[in-house]
Amino acid sequence: MDAIECMKTRRSVRRYTEEKITKEAFDEIIDVARMAPTWKNSQTLRYIVVSDRAVIDKIKDECILGHEGNGKTLTSCNTLVILAQVNGRCGYERDGSFTTSKGAGWEMFDAGIAAQTFCLAAHEKGYGTCIMGIFDDTKVAEAVNLPEGQTVCALISIGVPKFIPDPTPRKEVEELVRYI
Ligand SMILES: Cc1cc2nc3c(=O)[nH]c(=O)nc-3n(C[C@H](O)[C@H](O)[C@H](O)COP(=O)(O)O)c2cc1C
Repeated sequence: MDAIECMKTRRSVRRYTEEKITKEAFDEIIDVARMAPTWKNSQTLRYIVVSDRAVIDKIKDECILGHEGNGKTLTSCNTLVILAQVNGRCGYERDGSFTTSKGAGWEMFDAGIAAQTFCLAAHEKGYGTCIMGIFDDTKVAEAVNLPEGQTVCALISIGVPKFIPDPTPRKEVEELVRYI
């Protein structure tokens, strides 16, 4: 699969078979995700691969703000990746001040690039993913014993797709672009 095909055929997958993904495959996916660009090459993203059913269920029952759809996704997946970030580096100067008016916004910018890189690497290997943003980050941090000084950025369910969802609509290029 070439890069453009990979980007164009990735879908958010919310239903999975019971097939498990090996540690070797996760290492290969994260080996790709770590190549994502980061603020001053700060490389603050961390990946917590959760396959313990009890922990996934705890997150499902206590940490997703009652979101029914995400609950079903978490029931279906047998692995959930917690994308976390080391706080206070991305977007900051060495003296702790912000470099730009976007402040700590660059932290989520880096997290987004890493998440997409992770999802594309997984897709290329035949795995489906769904990035989930609806959760209580303090509760998720507690559920996975996140080290002090890190924050949960996103949940990413992953597995072998039960089926490939239809593509979701996109705006036309003309609506999105302005040439000067
Ligand atoms: C930051 C972010 C948060 C998202 N949160 C959720 C979520 O909580 N639950 C969910 O089912 N999908 C979530 N999605 C997936 C989007 O709904 C999905 O990407 C969008 O509908 C386009 O579909 P596609 O990914 O199949 O192209 C999220 C995506 C992003 C980028």
